[in-house]
Amino acid sequence: MKQQKIGMDIKIRPINTLTDLRRCHEIQRATWGFTDLMVFPYTQLISAAHNGGTLLGAYDGPNLVGFVYGYLGMSGAKLYLFSQRMGVLPSCQSKGIGMKLKLAQRDMMLRQGIDLIVWTYDPLLGKNASLNIEKLGGIVRHYARDIYGAVSNPLQVGLSTDRFLLEWELMSDRVRQRIRSREPRPLAEDWLREEALNFVNYVTWESNLPRPIASDLEMDDRGLLVQIPHDLNLIKKMDLGLARGWRESTRDIFETYFRRGYVVTGFARSTQPTVPNIYKMERIELPTTSDFSSWVGGVREE
Ligand SMILES: CC(C)(COP(=O)(O)OP(=O)(O)OC[C@H]1O[C@@H](n2cnc3c(N)ncnc32)[C@H](O)[C@@H]1OP(=O)(O)O)[C@@H](O)C(=O)NCCC(=O)NCCS
Repeated sequence: MKQQKIGMDIKIRPINTLTDLRRCHEIQRATWGFTDLMVFPYTQLISAAHNGGTLLGAYDGPNLVGFVYGYLGMSGAKLYLFSQRMGVLPSCQSKGIGMKLKLAQRDMMLRQGIDLIVWTYDPLLGKNASLNIEKLGGIVRHYARDIYGAVSNPLQVGLSTDRFLLEWELMSDRVRQRIRSREPRPLAEDWLREEALNFVNYVTWESNLPRPIASDLEMDDRGLLVQIPHDLNLIKKMDLGLARGWRESTRDIFETYFRRGYVVTGFARSTQPTVPNIYKMERIELPTTSDFSSWVGGVREE
């Protein structure tokens, strides 16, 4: 796909021309490297949008550079939006477009009387964590193992498809505060220096890559910090075994602490590859209206 120069004036609006619907296929291929089998066809996207879901595009002038797609879900009596896919062209990422798409999705759902959006993401992806936890104010209390089994697209190949299940309570104090905040976002470099909270895991460096050291799974502080790599995709390219090591060690940590009532409530991004990103977990009671336990066991191969 041709690289584009991105302007600052991104507009979010529903996608409803055939050209742009087809362009959603190209964006999925360019963003994830999906094969045709993994690309959601536009017929599916548009049907969901006509039935209470969302299909919103990010436009740089006339050019569609990203989209977010979701459909309605139900848990008990609670209606919510399940946001299945969001992609921004690689050349346009980290410029606030994902944030704009999510805010427009929130606005659309609130107008429909829906106050919860749920989605999944790989807990080891810093860019997604930064957006989902810190910028949007989402929280995580469910770790879902290998939800799609082995997949072959370049972004995910070789690693189990473990996911955080993210809950975005649209009208909660936390979310309203985060999306309006003009405060500088926390930096991992500061959290490493401050020593206000203890770390569950530590990191050593070998050949410029971070390697997880054994974690402490028996802590009971009110708040705890968990280190993850700055850029998992780089580690996967350099050393797949190391990426798997990160997957296994963080799976143990989050599964253990979520079982014991901890919730991921914060994230500090690092500004350089030689410093890890950091999650914050807190032991707090948060009301829940939904039951997502069916995700947690993942899928089996047979
Ligand atoms: C995830 C995605 C949709 C986010 O969209 P985006 O436009 O890049 O998001 P934003 O720019 O609003 O937010 C990303 C934040 O992560 C930060 N970031 C970038 N790299 C980071 C890293 N390695 N670690 C931590 N934070 C990082 C960015 O600086 C930005 O924060 P800032 O606004 O404070 O500077 C987009 O990056 C994407 O398409 N990724 C690939 C596909 C994917 O994972 N989709 C989501 C799951 S379906």
